[in-house]
Amino acid sequence: MTGDTTGVRKFYLDVLPVIDVRHVTMKTHILSPNPCAHWLMAGLLALGTRAWSADSPTLKDTFKDHFLVGTAINRNITTGTGFRRSPEQVKQDVALVKAQFNQLVAENEMKWAPLHPQPGADGYDFRAADAFVSFGLSNNMYLVGHTLVWHAQTPDWVFAGTNPPPPGVTNVAPRPFADTNAPGTNRFGRGRFGRGFGGFGGFGRYTGPRASREELLQRMRDHIHTVVGRYKGKIKVWDVVNEALADNGTNILRNSLWLEIIGPDFIAKAFEYAHEADPNAVLRYNDYGLENPAKCRKLVTLVKSLQAQKIPVHAIGSQAHLNVAVTFETMDQELAELATLGLPIHITELDVNSAQGGQRSFGADIADNAATTQGGLVSDADRKLAEAYAGLFRAFLKHDKSVEMVTFWGANDANSWRGNGKPLLFDGNSQPKPAFDAVIAEAKKMATAK
Ligand code: GLA
Repeated sequence: MTGDTTGVRKFYLDVLPVIDVRHVTMKTHILSPNPCAHWLMAGLLALGTRAWSADSPTLKDTFKDHFLVGTAINRNITTGTGFRRSPEQVKQDVALVKAQFNQLVAENEMKWAPLHPQPGADGYDFRAADAFVSFGLSNNMYLVGHTLVWHAQTPDWVFAGTNPPPPGVTNVAPRPFADTNAPGTNRFGRGRFGRGFGGFGGFGRYTGPRASREELLQRMRDHIHTVVGRYKGKIKVWDVVNEALADNGTNILRNSLWLEIIGPDFIAKAFEYAHEADPNAVLRYNDYGLENPAKCRKLVTLVKSLQAQKIPVHAIGSQAHLNVAVTFETMDQELAELATLGLPIHITELDVNSAQGGQRSFGADIADNAATTQGGLVSDADRKLAEAYAGLFRAFLKHDKSVEMVTFWGANDANSWRGNGKPLLFDGNSQPKPAFDAVIAEAKKMATAK
């Protein structure tokens, strides 16, 4: 299972040179139950060690001939200051991001709500997004912007106007948006965000008097031009529309305020505006649950119709918020279906939930998130996670002509929106889990099979 045949990893201290334990060699907790190693590692971590030496495998190097390997990051990492993480932990998180990944996306900072909380040209707050871009550029990362048009995390003012809502929608006055999106967390729940946060679908959705189609298109265009224009040439890929597809039933599109107020062409318009703002940016349609063949077919239908209208859609984003039941076959089938569109495929928000509450479906509706991380971990979670990741990476490698980017939704379990489900390759101390070794082993297997 390990990619390192000696079973040994090297660690070195780089922040406290007074203690000369550079190039300490020892076994990790994964590879050895040695209690001294545990103790030594805990000590090193407490002192602020970096977990990787120059000859440890890294994701970005291991897969460099196949695809970029990225991660979502939060404000802790871009600013170096911790929210719910100690300064030493943040230092470790930053070191992990720099060592392992070559592509970044901001977990929250470029969503409409934090970026443009108030109406109009003065209503933007670029501080966190600018910090993300400068962190990424100064570390030579390939940058992705997420996301321009989405039904969630969009403030009420965007949809507000003077047109009465359709019958059946309770008529309440719009409330100003409050930025409750604390840095370092992405754990949504009804209590935390509540009304006014903006459109989670079944709840929290704005119900007051509405903007007209023209007003909403104008707001969308202004927002997209301002945001994409500001980072032109720096952000290489944009998630232009996020999660527009319906999960169930026969409707292609989910019911959202974008759809209700503008109509189905809100998607085409968003892509056109983004293309005007940066003709060189790769424009992506991004959604979750594409492992479900019925939803995947909806995506294909939607994108084919955009292609027929010559709308500039350049890549497909498959979020891939999965659970430990996922197999090679599931992902293989999804990628084969998506590849029929002839567009690059980006795996955009990869994580594999090991919590019992998250084993029922491959969903990512943020309204359901709290429930999906309940109930403790499944039995034998480390092994199941490693097997699931091995299957996924085997499928990514098989389809590497289409798969150009694989982005994890967080660098380690401590920075995950599904932290309770321990869904990533690195634990909360940035130590590699058996799933990391399994993923590296897949690349080695492929190299030797050639
Ligand atoms: C969706 C969104 C992401 C993020 C996750 C949860 O997948 O696309 O921006 O909010 O939910 O972190």
